[in-house]
Amino acid sequence: MESKKSSLGSSTPDISPSAAPSYAYALGLTQFQGFWIPSRHVPTSSIISFQKYFQALDEDIIVVSKPKAGTTWLKALVFTIVNRHSYTLSNTPLNSANPHQLIPFFDADLYKENPNPDLSKISSPRLFSTHLPYSMLADSIKRSNCRIVYITRNPFDIIVSLRHFFRFIDDWSVEDYLEMFCRGEEPYGPFWDHALGYWNMSVEKPSNVLFMRYEELKEDSVAQTKRLAEFLGFAFSMEEEKTGVVNQIVDFCSFNNLKDLEANKTGKIPRSIIPSNKLFFRSGKVFRKVHRPQTSDGFSSGRVANIILRLIAFCS
Ligand code: A3P
Repeated sequence: MESKKSSLGSSTPDISPSAAPSYAYALGLTQFQGFWIPSRHVPTSSIISFQKYFQALDEDIIVVSKPKAGTTWLKALVFTIVNRHSYTLSNTPLNSANPHQLIPFFDADLYKENPNPDLSKISSPRLFSTHLPYSMLADSIKRSNCRIVYITRNPFDIIVSLRHFFRFIDDWSVEDYLEMFCRGEEPYGPFWDHALGYWNMSVEKPSNVLFMRYEELKEDSVAQTKRLAEFLGFAFSMEEEKTGVVNQIVDFCSFNNLKDLEANKTGKIPRSIIPSNKLFFRSGKVFRKVHRPQTSDGFSSGRVANIILRLIAFCS
């Protein structure tokens, strides 16, 4: 794919829609229900089927993120916490399968091949995931008492991570990705609308939506893992804390351990467009911290895009 020319060097960056190069087209994104969906990979029909047919149960747990925000890590933690009484760390399925195989996506997996799959045989609690924004979730999820765990990350680190991840598809520069991101024309973007939807719900319904940050999980993995377990209804007992179970789970799900498991080093998810599981593990570091939003005022994607573009123009 041809690299795109960036306008970021100019002193008056133009982010009007008419000036937009077709990032969306090049990445195979379709604007659907207000967000940019990677429709080559996730047909909008699978989203419609999910919205129409999925029946949430109160015990369900749903892992939500934007791509590159820490989805794989969070899935490994959720799976291990919830199944710790069924599997030890030496016989957990995570030793032979990538976390994405153990917690499937609604839209990219379950409803992609079958518009109304039978999910009734999955043992409780059922673990699912999605990159969809809150507004696009099936109504049954919003009506139920199920738990949603959302993870986000500093957008700059997401941009860099996206750029490296999509090298198997394109050769765009990090500036191209930044520009695309600022336009909101990125997988499941705009970023701020996505994060804000879940942030607002975590404030409104704190026992149903947990808002996590990659940076906080990295900084204090033990405290955040305990917070996660408690929210999921699988809190660690005093005995487990004393005997080091939390630390063992944190170590098992750490970047260095997961990336070296055979399934992640050499495996590939069947039928996935991602050529190798290795791509889910790059450097696993925090380069920039994300700030906690205090209110939802002024949290609009256009405003943030403008600020970022002005900063870049100022610095160049
Ligand atoms: P980097 O590219 O910055 O290294 P996702 O799972 O949402 O696709 O996100 C991928 C990002 O999470 C990548 O970031 C990847 O390296 C990082 N990652 C994967 N597993 C991790 C883990 N166990 N701990 C910390 N970061 C992890």
